[in-house]
Amino acid sequence: MSKNWIAPSILSSDFSDLKSDIEIINNSNADLLHVDVMDGNFVPNISFGQGIVKTMHKLSTKPLDVHLMIVNPEKYIDDFCDAGASIISFHLEATNHVHRLIQYIKNKGVKAGVAINPHTPAEMVFEVLDDADLILVMSVNPGFGGQKFIYNSLSKCRRIKDEIVERNLETMIEIDGGVGLQNAEIIKASGVDILVAGNAVFKSENPIATISMLKEAGVGNMQF
Ligand code: DX5
Ligand code: ZN
Repeated sequence: MSKNWIAPSILSSDFSDLKSDIEIINNSNADLLHVDVMDGNFVPNISFGQGIVKTMHKLSTKPLDVHLMIVNPEKYIDDFCDAGASIISFHLEATNHVHRLIQYIKNKGVKAGVAINPHTPAEMVFEVLDDADLILVMSVNPGFGGQKFIYNSLSKCRRIKDEIVERNLETMIEIDGGVGLQNAEIIKASGVDILVAGNAVFKSENPIATISMLKEAGVGNMQF
């Protein structure tokens, strides 16, 4: 059965009052805190680095789900492990050594995720499905919050889920970008375990209630 986890993305929060926004997540039934690290190179935007992530770790009672949108991710794994990440996902498109990097992260006692951009076929992760703890399917082009959900990502998630089920693996699927109350149900029905939501949570009137609604959406229809 899918996990039905919710991971609010701190990228959409108010950075002038990060502490209050993290406290909101602490008081919600979110499962993870999603942290987007961007280098202005792999993606056309810069967010924050390991120093801020370390501060977030001090403030957060939720495990940190760190999404690295950076080139040469191998250079920074130690830093983000030290900063307190519970999960580190790096992009398949950003390294030649996906298998090696998964093992490296897992050997540090941190869960390893492989993220794929919208143009990357599902099959590209099949050879590492039993090594990775999770596959992060990008449902927008990475770099910015508040973009429109790309619906082709749903069939991609299904193909990955079918493979996971057929091989009897525990690998989770996370989806990231354009997720909200309008599509949470159909996403869960496609076999996704973890929904990342930035704008849908932080730009809503009541983030705590929105997180609960995202969690409750479509629970009866989850087929896997
Ligand atoms: C996009 C980031 C996402 C982003 C999601 O590159 O990886 O995590 O914060 O934001 P929304 O939910 O607003 O699309
Ligand atoms: Zn992300």
